[in-house]
Amino acid sequence: MKFIVCENYEEMSKAGAKIIADLLKSKPKCVLGLATGSTPVGMYEELRRMNKAGEITFKDVTTYNLDEYYPLAPDHDQSYRYFMNHNLFDHVDIDKSRTHVPNGLAEDPAAEGAAYDKAVEDAGNVDIQVLGVGQNGHIGFNEPEDALYVGTHLTSLTDNTIEANSRFFASKADVPTKAITMGMGTIMKARKILVLASGKNKHYVIENMLNDRITCHIPSTLLKTHPDVIVICDRAAFEG
Ligand code: GLP
Repeated sequence: MKFIVCENYEEMSKAGAKIIADLLKSKPKCVLGLATGSTPVGMYEELRRMNKAGEITFKDVTTYNLDEYYPLAPDHDQSYRYFMNHNLFDHVDIDKSRTHVPNGLAEDPAAEGAAYDKAVEDAGNVDIQVLGVGQNGHIGFNEPEDALYVGTHLTSLTDNTIEANSRFFASKADVPTKAITMGMGTIMKARKILVLASGKNKHYVIENMLNDRITCHIPSTLLKTHPDVIVICDRAAFEG
């Protein structure tokens, strides 16, 4: 696991965008695993700028997002499909039919999860998986638990996550209590993993990613077993 410590959020966002841009240049038909949350917003902004400036193209790129609230319609303004359209897909030259987000209205979430994993595999697996981290170390929506899931599955959100994400909804009661998320196995299949973390409230997670232990109670620590992980964080997240 390699750590890059940036001075601030902007620098972190640019460093993350450069890694994605380098992949797009060396492998135009790549598969990106994408994340939502406030952390990658600046990186998506920089990627939009680079695309507009003609520095990179998304023409042949395929994407798979980590997760989606359940149940939530794709056109709901807090859905992760809406987030991705708004922050990236609507503003770059990507073929939207090659962008994928788990279906937050799937009638059979278990079948949706299995089909999602198969689609990722059929696409040749993810080249770079972008990850943010929850304050409790969740990745995607793999919340701290005694045992974690391998594949994409329906999960319940912890109160801590519902509380943290309520800032985007009208009230805490409006936050869906469930989500469909890639499992740890799906995430670990990515050839490279790019973790972004910014701010003091991510220090606990970063601290636990720096030591030599792994625990399902801080899911991001499992990334230590992956051979190619880059963590880009700002000084606030690194030093606390
Ligand atoms: C959500 C998402 C995660 C994200 C996390 C952190 O719960 N499912 O993918 O990493 O929030 O969000 P933020 O970047 O806003 O701190």
